Amino acid sequence: MFLTLFGAPGSGKGTQATHLVERFGIPQISTGELLRAEAASGTKLGRLAKEHMDRGELVPDDVTLDVFRRRLSQPDVAGGVLLDGFPRTVPQAVELDRVLEGMDRQMDRVIFIKVPPEELVNRLSGRLTCPVCGRTYHPVLAPPKNDRLCDRDGARLIERDDDKAETARRRISVYLDRTLPVLEYYRRKGLVSEVSGEGDIGEVRRRIMDAIAAPHGGGE
Ligand code: AP5
Ligand code: MG
Repeated sequence: MFLTLFGAPGSGKGTQATHLVERFGIPQISTGELLRAEAASGTKLGRLAKEHMDRGELVPDDVTLDVFRRRLSQPDVAGGVLLDGFPRTVPQAVELDRVLEGMDRQMDRVIFIKVPPEELVNRLSGRLTCPVCGRTYHPVLAPPKNDRLCDRDGARLIERDDDKAETARRRISVYLDRTLPVLEYYRRKGLVSEVSGEGDIGEVRRRIMDAIAAPHGGGE
């Protein structure tokens, strides 16, 4: 199964991916996490990516696709993949189709998690992220069991550099301009299931599971 979680920054892609990878036993590929790892390793590519990420801009397609293709060449993707935050431009979506065709696969479903803009900013400000596994928390909306420690691996949680209010707003505006057109691309193929991302995390999870279980277009 090849699934994409599609939605604005702060819509809950990473939060919901945590559950879905356990449920379906397929790996999550978050290009945001891949690019942050590349940036942390200090390579030329990573430094270039970081410059864009810190400004809340998209990383250029060639860099993103390079990192993505490397990840997709690993053997654990054979049974399917849960994509989080990719594709984010129409050229990325076109290239993904080409790569999947080469693997004799195709995109099965795009789950669009819809959240109003004012709620996105609330969720991003104060968000806490595990630097080891990427799981996210929020001091009020989704607190960890132990203060500032990841429930899964006990690592000390950090605030992401690009979650500052101004940068978060820029990410949302870039999403509206450059990433929303990708939704149209998949709508024309009849692959989009739209679910409301409002309400608590468990409710959203149930809506996503229902949308996956429904025939194509379920949840729209
Ligand atoms: P990326 O890491 O993908 O960030 P993003 O898309 O901005 O999304 P977020 O991770 O901020 O939000 P999320 O939807 O995962 O929300 P979360 O579950 O954490 O990308 C970062 C950067 O990398 C980009 O800006 C770009 O520069 C670059 N990049 C990445 N991919 C790229 C690509 N393909 N092309 C080019 N550049 C790329 O939830 C948010 C918060 O809300 C959390 O605190 C959570 O606890 C809380 N929460 C979640 N659900 C709920 C709920 N139902 N109720 C209450 N609180 C909730
Ligand atoms: Mg995320």
